[in-house]
Amino acid sequence: MTPRKYRKIQTITDCEVRFDVDLSQHTSMKVGGKAACMAIPHTEKALEELIKRTHKDKIPMFALGGGTNTIFVDDGFDGVVMKLGSGFQDIRNTSGVRFTVGAAADLNKLVSQSLKRQAAGLEYCLGIPGTVGGALAGNAGTRGVGICNSVSRVWGFTRDGERYEVEKFPYGYRYSWLRTTYIAGANFTLDPCDTEAKKAVLSERVRLFGFARRSQPYRFPSAGCIFKNPNNDSAGRLIDVAGLKGFSVGELEVSERHANFIVNNGKGKAEDLVYLICYVRQMIKEKYDVDLQLEVQLVSSHPMRVEPDRLKAAEGSRLKATVLAPAETDPILSFI
Ligand code: EPU
Repeated sequence: MTPRKYRKIQTITDCEVRFDVDLSQHTSMKVGGKAACMAIPHTEKALEELIKRTHKDKIPMFALGGGTNTIFVDDGFDGVVMKLGSGFQDIRNTSGVRFTVGAAADLNKLVSQSLKRQAAGLEYCLGIPGTVGGALAGNAGTRGVGICNSVSRVWGFTRDGERYEVEKFPYGYRYSWLRTTYIAGANFTLDPCDTEAKKAVLSERVRLFGFARRSQPYRFPSAGCIFKNPNNDSAGRLIDVAGLKGFSVGELEVSERHANFIVNNGKGKAEDLVYLICYVRQMIKEKYDVDLQLEVQLVSSHPMRVEPDRLKAAEGSRLKATVLAPAETDPILSFI
């Protein structure tokens, strides 16, 4: 039976609504519980109505992109997980190096179409899985440059359903103001490679970024890099020299291939992943006095308490109790 509070959402035109949706099937890490409700608006009108309705009825709503940088806890999400539908997947090449893109468009398709057009400016996103909207929300890219550098206009809705359109907005390393909104689409005006010299630079960059991807464990379920790089260092390097490659809790393991990745070797649980994250964080703090910040979004409806006893069987028995709660965690760690 449809829970009462979601009935009004079901009346929105062009919006698919499902209940008790297994979130592990919607994230690349393949862990996590169920969403009480998943809503899939296919048009901007449906998205606007959905935002206004959930806002008015105080129903928590989480915008999920490709699920490649998001981890839901085992308790799932007690609210609406919103995933943009078919009306947001288009990539239109409006002229030479200009593209108009829906937020649910595949980022790699956009990158490959831009490269076909000999347009520079998105090649550092090569191989990053996910949607354009998700990439904009987290300013995906490399350490030095992110997709927010390259976008010329973004539109969508604020948390209370007002339409916005911006050309400039605050962003930084793996941070973007856009995450506080519901992104609907974007325009990109890229750089034409109209000389042989520019074409050579672009193809060398493509080669280098392709090479960087090959050093990552892209064949196993993961959420990409788990931690942001600390100032002037690399989280992967620190975790590696700390000897944590291969350290595992349950089915979750610090990758042997790239230490800033945690891979899921089977039907892993989000709980184990959270312990592993806390353990790695604590080891790096103890050994190098560096506070690693999460790069992935860890989503829970409630604050979480991580008990030290949980790791007694493993070497992690020294893990201190950690409460993951909004006030003391990374801004990107979202508890709703
Ligand atoms: N390193 C190690 N051991 C490891 C992993 C890395 O010693 O296990 C060393 C490397 O040898 C290198 C340095 O650490 O000297 C940096 O590693 P890498 O070149 O792999 O880049 P990264 O800083 O770890 C960043 C982004 C990646 C992006 C790559 C390539 C962050 C947190 N990560 O990784 O983004 O793909 O550059 O451009 O900014 C992601 O966001 O999910 C992600 C994977």
